[in-house]
Order: sequence, then structure tokens, then C-alpha cells
Amino acid sequence: MDATERWLKRAQELDRSDPLAVFRERFVKKEENLIYLDGNSLGMLNRESEKAVSAALSEEWGGRLIRGWNDGWWEMPSRVASKIAMITGCRSDEIAVCDSTSVNLFKLLSASLRLQKGRKKVVSDTLNFPSDIYIAEGAIHNAGLGHRLCLAESENSIDIPFSRLEALIDEDTAVVVLSLVQFKSGFMYDMARVNRLAHEKGALVIWDLSHATGAVEIDLNATGSDMAIGCTYKYLNGGPGSPAFLFVRKEMREELISPLWGWLGEYDPFSFARSYRPAEGATRYMTGSPPVLSMASLEPSLDIILEAGMPAIRKKSVAMTQMITEIWKDILATRGFTVGSPSDPGMRGSHMALRHSEGFRICRALISDDEGEYVIIPDFRPPDIIRLGFAPLYNSFTDIAVAATELDRIVRDKVYELFSSEKEKVT
Ligand SMILES: Cc1ncc(COP(=O)(O)O)c(C=O)c1O
Repeated sequence: MDATERWLKRAQELDRSDPLAVFRERFVKKEENLIYLDGNSLGMLNRESEKAVSAALSEEWGGRLIRGWNDGWWEMPSRVASKIAMITGCRSDEIAVCDSTSVNLFKLLSASLRLQKGRKKVVSDTLNFPSDIYIAEGAIHNAGLGHRLCLAESENSIDIPFSRLEALIDEDTAVVVLSLVQFKSGFMYDMARVNRLAHEKGALVIWDLSHATGAVEIDLNATGSDMAIGCTYKYLNGGPGSPAFLFVRKEMREELISPLWGWLGEYDPFSFARSYRPAEGATRYMTGSPPVLSMASLEPSLDIILEAGMPAIRKKSVAMTQMITEIWKDILATRGFTVGSPSDPGMRGSHMALRHSEGFRICRALISDDEGEYVIIPDFRPPDIIRLGFAPLYNSFTDIAVAATELDRIVRDKVYELFSSEKEKVT
């Protein structure tokens, strides 16, 4: 038995004793030979969501038309918010489901800059998702109050040493904007520790939970978090373009004023009052009409996560990232792969960065259905990162062992040479 066969056997054993294995069949998979490792970008569709969207489309919109709002659409954002609150460890009136992650960051950051009058620094890091940095630059420009953006540097493109944050966060810092889990390396901050550091200096923190929600256990209240934003189309499986969420600590609500006063954030939208009065709870941070069809697909996805439970999801996720690390040591390191993620499972989310000088073409070979027995979908991030996302609800340990066997074969037999390095629009 060679090394890849040994790993396949080990993976099958783990799958047999996996308590989450039962959830796999609740997801839609149209290609028998597909292994989907991109749930960190766009989660898979589940059967309950498929039915819910179809009902929302033909029975509710098609059948009930405008009456749909009073039949349950109006309460959808608050119902969905309360489920996200259970997943992220906060009160339901501290979450609003609305807009995109970028827009929600703009709202919370702009509000924070006003609130933290006199402080001129916004701190983030060089590993953060570019949209967050653009939004920070835009919010600073828009505020016109002379703020400056200071980025903590990484020494290894994997993590940000805590000392770098300590050196940057001071009495002049208004807000710290960080991703809990980094989009490339998967490095995860210690939320409570960063919150404490910022609060000691009087700074606020906005967490981007996009790569963390549904993948790692989050307790916004227990960690003393101020604000957060996040998307729902990755590990929350809400579907392409599903709405984002935002969190604001209850105690901050009265003083943290949204820069966008839309009617959905108004106290009583259908009174059509002449002047804006903020709604109660985090609803005040909503702006316009909620995307009903996207919420219809999101809500059952959240129910599945709550049914499985975040502790079980996280436990399997850690076992999965641990398994690929061990396979890398055993097989893939000799093929020129390096690991671009933290080695401590407690410091990483649910995806792993495998780096290779031929990363892009290897990725294309994995995805191609012209070559090999499987279609394996990870994604590629420049300069050389193959991101493997592990979604414990629908990925098996066998998926990982098969993907590793394919990575080994593609490099050993130079299969990637059959593929061009021309990039498509979405990688
Ligand atoms: C960490 C992170 N923040 C923000 C965004 C942007 O999200 P949106 O397109 O919902 O604004 C993304 C998108 O993938 C992301 O990964």
C-alpha cells in the first residue's frame, strides 16, 4: 500500500465514525465525481434552501404578490438575524441582516469615526481583504477629518504578530478593523485579546467575520466585541450575493449613528413620517428593502448549522485542516508544496493555503473535467496559493485524501503542463 492509499483508507475510517456525515446528503450535488473545496468562497446549496426559494418564487411572489410582505417577508430579516445571533454568540437585537459586507463596514466605520472624535488613526493589517482596506480608505476620505490608515505588517504572509498591533494601537486610534480569519492564509486572531488591547487604549474594534462565521466558534458577547460585519454566502451557505450581517454591541447603539438613514432603519416605515427616527435594536442600521429570495435560501441554511451545532462543526474542521497538514508532511512537501497557513489549529479557520510555484496551473488541472477521474474545485489566490476550504457539513475526510492524491499525481506527472496560465475573470 503506498502513502496515498494509506491516507484514503484512514479517511474512510474517519468518515465512518463522523457524526456530521449524515448532513452530506442534505446538499445538492449534481456531478457524481465532484469534490467541492470552495465553501470558503461560495457554500453549497442544500435541499431545504432549494425548496424554500422555489416556494418563495412561485407560491409567495407568483401567488401572493405584494401580500407576501404580510405573510412573513417583513419579519424575515429579524428571523434570520436571530439565527445568526445564535451562531455568533450575541443577542438577536444586536444583529441586522442587510446590504453587503462592504456597505456594512462603511456604515459602521463611518459611524465610529464620528463617535471617536479627535482620534486620527484607523488600524488594520496587510493581510486583510482588499475590499475592507478600500472601504476604510473611502470612509476616511469621505469623513474628511484627516484620519490616517495604519497597517500592521506580516513577516511571513501567514500571520500578524500581536506585538505589531500593540505597536500601532494607541490613544490616537479611533478604530481597529480586522478580519477574524484571513482570506488567504486562514490565520485567526485571538478576538478577546485584541478587543482588550484596543479597549485599554480607548479604541473600538470592527471584526470582519466573513471567513469565520459557520466555520469557527464565535462568541461576540463573551469576547467583549464592539462591532462586526460578515457575509452569509461562504460557510453560512446563503447563496451567491446573499445579504450580509452586522453586529453592534447593545450599549453602543444609541451613540453609534448610521451614516445612511434609510426607511428600513426607521422606527415605523409605513407611517411614512417626514423625519427619520431610528428603529429599536440593530434594525436601525438597515437601509432599504431586504432581498427576500436570498433570505429564503439563507434561512434553512442557518437552521442546518444550528441543528449540527458549531462545536461539532469546529471539531471536524480542525480534524480536517490537521489531516491535510499531515498529508502535506507525508506526501506533498516532496512535490514542492509549502503550507501558507498557521501550524497551530487553534490559530486558523477552516481553509488551508497550499503554495506551489505552479499553483495556478495545478488549480486548473484539479478543476478540469477533461483530465483525471474527479472534478476538484478549490480556488486560487495570487501569487501562488491554492486555497482548500473544508466545510464540515458537506465535505468528507475522503474528499481531502482524494484531493491530495490528485495534487500528488498532477505534479508528479506534470499534468499541469497541459493547462495555460491565462486567468479567467473569477479565480
Ligand atoms: C473577508 C471579506 N470581507 C469582505 C468581503 C466583501 O464582501 P461583499 O462582497 O459582501 O461586500 C469579502 C468577500 O469575499 C471577504 O472575503
